[in-house]
Amino acid sequence: MKKSSYTPGNRKIAIIGAGYVGSSIAYALALRDVAREIVLIDVNHEKTIGEAKDIRHGLPIMGTADLYGGDYNDCSDCDLIIITAGRGRRPGESRLDLTNENVKIIKTVINDIKPYYTRGVILVISNPVDILTYKAAEWMSLSNGMVFGSGCILDSSRLVRAIADYAGVSTGVINGYVVGEHGDAQVPIWSHVTVGGIPIDEYCKDTGLPWNDTVRAKISDEIRVMGAEIISAKGRTHYGIATCVCQIADAIVNMRPTISSVSSVLMGEHGCSDVALSVPSVIGPGGVSQRLGEKWTPDEYSRFLKAGDNVQKMLQTISF
Ligand SMILES: NC(=O)c1ccc[n+]([C@@H]2O[C@H](COP(=O)([O-])OP(=O)(O)OC[C@H]3O[C@@H](n4cnc5c(N)ncnc54)[C@H](O)[C@@H]3O)[C@@H](O)[C@H]2O)c1
Repeated sequence: MKKSSYTPGNRKIAIIGAGYVGSSIAYALALRDVAREIVLIDVNHEKTIGEAKDIRHGLPIMGTADLYGGDYNDCSDCDLIIITAGRGRRPGESRLDLTNENVKIIKTVINDIKPYYTRGVILVISNPVDILTYKAAEWMSLSNGMVFGSGCILDSSRLVRAIADYAGVSTGVINGYVVGEHGDAQVPIWSHVTVGGIPIDEYCKDTGLPWNDTVRAKISDEIRVMGAEIISAKGRTHYGIATCVCQIADAIVNMRPTISSVSSVLMGEHGCSDVALSVPSVIGPGGVSQRLGEKWTPDEYSRFLKAGDNVQKMLQTISF
């Protein structure tokens, strides 16, 4: 992929959808001082005013952002537009069950953004994120990588958390990614997990920790069902994704490029095209500037391709 020549400047972020996820993202961005200006936009305008006021009341103590409830015309001149509009999963529902309802909402959101869009990256969070990212990219017609989805960033963070707990070390020394679909067909790339820079199988051998298919299957299952478990316990997830988004937003608006497993429309990488899936990607001011072509095991590849088939089949059922 070509590197984008796009440069930001305003440190301005719009968040469409001021529900649990949108307002948690605004709160996390404000605490981390990621942006200069944050605007919350929602069909329920009153809610954006209430959420913005609530967050603003803590800003004299921590944070400096100008945070307010606004309207779609505030999308102009943003470095980043984050879409969280749409309903969440209900207990027992899969992310794909949400598809038709949320595709319609995202179409409305894109139509409402377009008249005011002048610049900036579009980051999709609403589920099913791979499907919605593909459709948003199609409808926005920007260059490849300017529209992308949070994809497996949260699953990767959950993987790192679970391995750190298993190995009894801090998360800061774990490196690992989940790729493919943000959903049941997610694929942890075990062949690239490291602890303190050492491949995890060597680390476990050195430290006497068991490392085998049973342990890997237990951790994989734990990560795969974690979202559903939280939803059944408290009705929604929002804090985890909000923190993960801060890293991406910082890379974009503060020009500190990072690498994360996010969802973008593939163009032949890892044998897939014309579908949005997560792979480790370089993210900076122009969105996804490169998708990394690291080598995986044959089993990891075949599971990744299966995830691609699943998402592509879902896309074919959408008629608009
Ligand atoms: N990608 C991830 O890792 C991840 C994690 C958690 C949640 N999610 C997804 O994020 C989405 C939001 O979840 P939530 O818990 O905040 O839901 P929520 O119901 O609390 O909030 C959704 C908000 O979107 C607003 N909205 C609906 N249509 C709109 C439109 N056309 N324009 C502007 N605003 C509109 C609603 O008024 C509501 O305030 C869901 O799809 C959920 O599945 C994704």
